[in-house]
Amino acid sequence: MAQVQIDVLLTEDQLRTRTRELAADIRATLADEPLVLIGVLKGCVPFIGDLARELSGDVAIDYVQVSSYGDGKTSTGVFQLKKDHDINIEGRHVVVVEDIVDSGLTLARLRELLATRRPASLTAVAMLSKPDARSHESRVEHVGFEIPNVFVVGYGLDHAESYRNLPFVGVLRESHG
Ligand code: IMP
Ligand code: MG
Repeated sequence: MAQVQIDVLLTEDQLRTRTRELAADIRATLADEPLVLIGVLKGCVPFIGDLARELSGDVAIDYVQVSSYGDGKTSTGVFQLKKDHDINIEGRHVVVVEDIVDSGLTLARLRELLATRRPASLTAVAMLSKPDARSHESRVEHVGFEIPNVFVVGYGLDHAESYRNLPFVGVLRESHG
């Protein structure tokens, strides 16, 4: 039987402290402009909630959903928009909120799409980034933590839809025996 072990990589405390810093960085860049946060479902959920609460001023929240992963641990390499945002972003300051930037495909394609909608500015924040996994050039202005190229779960990140609820980020190890 497969046994699952999760080794803590980033604690709840580390995530909370870094989220506060990222909110301050975003405000340092965009001053007190009204913001539209666009979260990438489903992994963004804990992060966008925590980030939004740390951001001062006028903050609107909307979501997109994109498919690339299926049930596996590697990207299918295909970008498909499953759900679009509702808020009109023309002339607005948009911040894309991602759980993790891995190959960079999702963020690169999403930025191209959102840019065609003429926002006043477009930036991205990701709690995690795997620089060694990057195969698509995609800008991420604000990164919480750079991590090694390992499969992680928790704080929104899933494996086959499980573990999103973990308050920490951990490395998933499966051993058979
Ligand atoms: P990218 O398009 O390859 O950058 O992948 C982005 C998406 O893949 C993220 O929004 C996650 O949903 C998913 N993903 C990438 N790495 C991991 C991981 O280590 N654990 C769980 N999901 C991941
Ligand atoms: Mg996923």
